[in-house]
Parts: sequence; C-alpha cells; structure tokens
Amino acid sequence: MGISHAKSIALQRRAQQLLPLGVNSNFRYWGEGITPYVQKAKGGYLWDADGNRYIDYRLAFGPIILGHADPDVNARVHAEIDQGSLFAMTSELEVAVAEKIVAMCPAMEMVRFATSGTEATMHALRIARAYTGREKIIKFEGNYHGFQDYLLFSTYAPSEVYGSRSSPVPIPSSSGLPACLHALVVTLPFNDFEALERTLRRVGHETAAIITEPVQDNCGAIEPLPGFLEFIRQKCDEYGILFILDEVKTGFRIARGGAQEVYNLKPDLATYAKSLANGYPLAAVAGKRDIMNVVGRGVAQGGTFNNNKPGVAAAFVTLEKLQSEPILETIARRGRRLMEGLHGIFEAAGLQASFRGHPAMFSYAFGVEQVTCQREWDASDRDYYLRLVDAAIERGVMPDHDPREPWYLCYAHSESDIDETLNVMADGVRVVRR
Ligand SMILES: Cc1ncc(COP(=O)(O)O)c(C=O)c1O
Repeated sequence: MGISHAKSIALQRRAQQLLPLGVNSNFRYWGEGITPYVQKAKGGYLWDADGNRYIDYRLAFGPIILGHADPDVNARVHAEIDQGSLFAMTSELEVAVAEKIVAMCPAMEMVRFATSGTEATMHALRIARAYTGREKIIKFEGNYHGFQDYLLFSTYAPSEVYGSRSSPVPIPSSSGLPACLHALVVTLPFNDFEALERTLRRVGHETAAIITEPVQDNCGAIEPLPGFLEFIRQKCDEYGILFILDEVKTGFRIARGGAQEVYNLKPDLATYAKSLANGYPLAAVAGKRDIMNVVGRGVAQGGTFNNNKPGVAAAFVTLEKLQSEPILETIARRGRRLMEGLHGIFEAAGLQASFRGHPAMFSYAFGVEQVTCQREWDASDRDYYLRLVDAAIERGVMPDHDPREPWYLCYAHSESDIDETLNVMADGVRVVRR
C-alpha cells in the first residue's frame, strides 16, 4: 500500500540518541524502521507519527477498555486534577474506588493501591511471604507478572531451555537478577496437574504462594484446562499456601469480576491494573481481610503515587460505567464476531489456526491444534503470524507485533471496525502465503 513511515523513522533515530533502543519499555521496540511512534489515539483508533490511522487492537497492552480518551473519564480527571493531582494523603474518592473493587470482585475484601501491575504483584508476594512465614514462590512458564526481579523467570525463553517437564529449570529473563532469587522461584508448565502435585510434595511446605495468570494472556491466551485453577486452590489449602491470581490483564475486562467471576474462584490475593483505570496509572493488590490485615502491622506497603488523582478519578468513572452499562457484554459480542470471522477467513484459505482466550482478549496460533502450555505454543508458526500482522498493519489494522500478545477489544470498536478488520485480514491472507 506504500504508506509513509518517514516521520516515525526519523523519530526513532532521534529517540535512539537518548533512550536505549529509542523506547521506554523493551516490548515497544519492534525493530529498525518498523517501530511505531505515535501521535494520538481516540476511541478504537490510533494515529502514528506520520498521521496513518489504525484500528487499534493493542490498546496499550490492554488497559483501554472503554476506548482511548473516553470523554467521561477525561472530564472527571480534568475536574479532579483542577483540585490537586497528588496529596500523598487519603481522599474520599479512593475509598469509593476500593468499595467498587470489592463490590465487583467476588473474593476480594480489602485493597491497597499501587501505580503499576509490577508493583501490585511485588506487594502481593511480600504479603504472602509475611503471612505464611515462607519464601518460595511457584510460577508457571509463559506467565509474566511484571518487571520486578522475583518473578522474572521463564517468561519468554524458547521452551527448549526450560528443561524436562518433570524437572523444569527456572530461566532468568534478564541479566542483573540476583543469583539468590533462583533458589526462591519454582517454575512449572501451565496446566500440568501432575507436575504441580509432584513439586508440592517436594517444596509445598516451604512455599508461600502459587501465582498465576488465570489465562496465559502473555502467551497466546492459553486457557486453563477444566479444573486446573480449582486444583491450584485445593492444593494451596492442603499445603497452607496462598493462591495469588494475577488479574492485571483479566480484571475488569473478561467480566466485571474478572477471572474470579468467570471461573468461580476464590484466590487469597489478586492483583489488578490495566482496565481498572482505562489507561491512567492505577493498580491494586486485593485479598481476604485476614491476609490483607498484615499490611501496616509489620508488613510494609506504600508509594508516593499510589493514590494519584488521575488514576483514582479514572478508575472511579471506568468502574462506574462498567457496573452500570452493558459494556463488557457488547465487547464480548463484537469480539466473538471478530474471532469467528477470522476463523472463517483462515479456514477458507486452508490455514490451520487454533483460537484461544476470551472474546475481549483473544489469540490464535497457526499450525498447532491443542495448546495447553508455552512448550506447545512454541511449536506454532510464529513467522507466518508475524508476516500477516505486518500486512494488517500496512493496511490500517494494528494488533501487537509479538504473537504472544492477544488482540484486545474496547467498547469504542464498532461493528464497522470489525467489518473493516475482517476485510483487511482477508486481503492479508491473499497476499501473504504460508
Ligand atoms: C499479568 C500481568 N501482570 C503484571 C504485569 C505488569 O504490569 P505493569 O506493566 O503495569 O507493570 C503485566 C503487564 O503486562 C501483566 O500482563
């Protein structure tokens, strides 16, 4: 189609003089000459530095649940910040947001705020260690829980390096992680009942928490097998371990009560960020009353920006709208239509594609039928996925460039956006051969 990227390319060169890779988060670097630089976003659309418009299915890695620059959210944020943006003291509005979170999320009784998902999971780990008096944490391969050191293991590595299923090796996802942390993290393949059972026989009594994303939304939206999350709950009870559900992506997106509602789960702690505030910075660690009550009673938790006014005001309006309007139902309906449409396009082109996830946040992989963990997902045809994404982006439809990232929908995506997307993808499979 030959759309121009001249300004983005020039901006990348300028940014690279100052910002490592020319970005402020490693995930935002797609490569030389293809990394997008952004001008603005509104509703379901995003415009790059060259003024090219895209239907945005990245939605900032998920936070945008209503739509970019939602007028109601922004009006409240403007009104609130006119009266001060940060007090580092407590205001009524944040109490009201905590009340909403507890009302919406079935198993949650108390909340503390943070500014990012990374901090929320970091706080959850400390609370779990303090409550149980134990240090080990079990996490699953392919799950991502933020950039804090404690859980930055076995996130994105090729699965050949993970060792055998019966004896997985935690693989650090970065240089710079203290070696002593290796001893505190146990990694396991997702959905492997037997591996979990066997591991708990070995380390169950030293384990403070099992943390998991309910759906592996940082790895192709791999869903839990029936009973797997319940099995984690049951085993946690048996061994006195806390169950931390990382709802940073699923919370306030796949249902009003997140994965707890969808899977009828009662985790001990849960973490939230992303859709909580429609793109403004607010996160939360929440949990059962007796567990959360250790905070402030010997357990440290804090942060200057924890109750930042823009985040709190945005969360209040976002949750209010999610509670009172059929937003998530509408997103799910449109997402289902998009999933079915894509499925039909791939099938008609003779492409084997398996779909996973929730219509508000779904993914597909080529060339693999059943995917229950990252080890199986790794066998999918990621090269074809990526070439098709590149063709879609050239035609004005933008999912993320990383095949692990799901497609996200928001309320502002219209039926005609779905139609346009399906046309673009149909055109894409015609020109991009597997
Ligand atoms: C499940 C999950 N937990 C935690 C995080 C970290 O959140 P943040 O990027 O706000 O630090 C992410 C980010 O993508 C995530 O997907």
